Amino acid sequence: MSVTPPGPIGDPVFGNGRQFADDPFTFMRACADSYGDVIRFDLGPRETYLLTNPADVERVLVADADRYRKPQFGDDAMDTLLGDGLLMSEGDTWQRQRKLANPSFHNRRIAALDGTMVDHTRSQLADWDDGEVVDIQLEVARLTVKIIVSAMFGADITDEEVKTVQEKLEPLGARFEPDPRRFLIPNWVPTRENREFDAAIDTLESVIDGIVDRRRGTERDPSVDPAGPDGVAVRGPAGDGDGDLPMDLLSVLLRARDRGEQTDENLRDELVTMLLAGHDTTALTLTYTFYLLSNHPEARERVASEAEAAVAGGAPTAADAREMKFTERVLNEAMRLYPPVYTLFREPKLDVKLGGYRIPEGSALMLSQWVVHRSPRWYDNPEAFDPSRWAPERRSQRPRFAYFPFGGGPRHCIGKAFSLLEAKLILAEVCSRYDLDYEGPDLSLRGSLTMHPNHPVPMRIRER
Ligand code: HEM
Repeated sequence: MSVTPPGPIGDPVFGNGRQFADDPFTFMRACADSYGDVIRFDLGPRETYLLTNPADVERVLVADADRYRKPQFGDDAMDTLLGDGLLMSEGDTWQRQRKLANPSFHNRRIAALDGTMVDHTRSQLADWDDGEVVDIQLEVARLTVKIIVSAMFGADITDEEVKTVQEKLEPLGARFEPDPRRFLIPNWVPTRENREFDAAIDTLESVIDGIVDRRRGTERDPSVDPAGPDGVAVRGPAGDGDGDLPMDLLSVLLRARDRGEQTDENLRDELVTMLLAGHDTTALTLTYTFYLLSNHPEARERVASEAEAAVAGGAPTAADAREMKFTERVLNEAMRLYPPVYTLFREPKLDVKLGGYRIPEGSALMLSQWVVHRSPRWYDNPEAFDPSRWAPERRSQRPRFAYFPFGGGPRHCIGKAFSLLEAKLILAEVCSRYDLDYEGPDLSLRGSLTMHPNHPVPMRIRER
């Protein structure tokens, strides 16, 4: 057995950092094609290993999850942004925050948010004109920001605030793009990128503070919960009182703060995390879905006919969304080809063995959806858009972790059901009324916290 996994040779200063930064997507797949299940490369001060076998992904995320943690990158940007919010926290803090948040994501509450999701979509579509061209990514991101703030913060966000959030996402995202020089520049150096990042965080936090101010004193008022009586009937976390309390996340967290279980800082970290994790990923999924549908008119027609059936009785509901089976396959296929979260990171807490190799404590592990989802080992003709891959009989032939857009194990995405319902209802509203035709360049991708198009995504709107 070889002791060190194989991998590409890097240059003496930046290792493989330059190749990765130039095009992480091509680099990771080329590594997977050449070197197999466990690949070692050098992205900076620590050893990095890419896992490409679903069995190893499952081991890290599920079976041996307690041997791994989310890595500290020695770069406090992530910490400054998300702090001890649910996505990045560990140990007891994570457990406490997840317990608090779970009731807000209860299936019954999510299903009862259908009306809010449709209302926001309808009011946005009222601004669309037949024949005009919109940047669909900005449009859907505007919509998903409004929906997450209503659904989880029990508040409205002004158009001005939405614009601010969107403008500030650009410098935030830029800070997380791979850059081999970052390890050479201390965090305190006031580079333009660092200054813009700090300013973006300040602005984002002041938007969040504004929302919290508007909600102060209403955390026990059931009428603030947009999920209505069904959502309010969901039981809160222990100590949260009995029944009839609003179960939107912000109300739950404000009550926990009143009980002394949350600090203002916890609250802010959680809200920033939910605002970012809760809108960008769904907006990207929809963007890639519209792009793929524009290139596959037959699939677009099938989605449109399901959409028409869903809206036939009036506003589409969670029950209508459950019937949109083909649309669900299209969404699965869009997240296979374009996973918004294109890689997960983990760090072993102790020396571990993976794929026959010893991986040292403290190294960085990459579990890449982008690589696994496009591997010919698990998918025939992996580059092709083919929603029929998601027929149950075909799906069951693949290893479970050949597909993991929402992660897996204890740290799986808390917002999965929310985002799938939201995506289907938005598709029901849009596709029953419009065909969208992509008018941009060949799709090119950029890796940051999530996987973004590297350019605007212009779509011409045609009324059906
Ligand atoms: C298509 C949409 C979405 C995708 C692809 C996605 C993907 C993911 C993935 C891959 C993880 C696991 C990260 C890891 O293991 O390191 C995750 C975690 C998480 N997601 Fe999502 N997500 C989506 C929507 C949402 C929504 C709508 C919300 C909130 C409303 C949300 C909130 C979170 C949170 C808080 C976590 C951390 C959970 C924990 O560690 O306990 N996500 N998401």
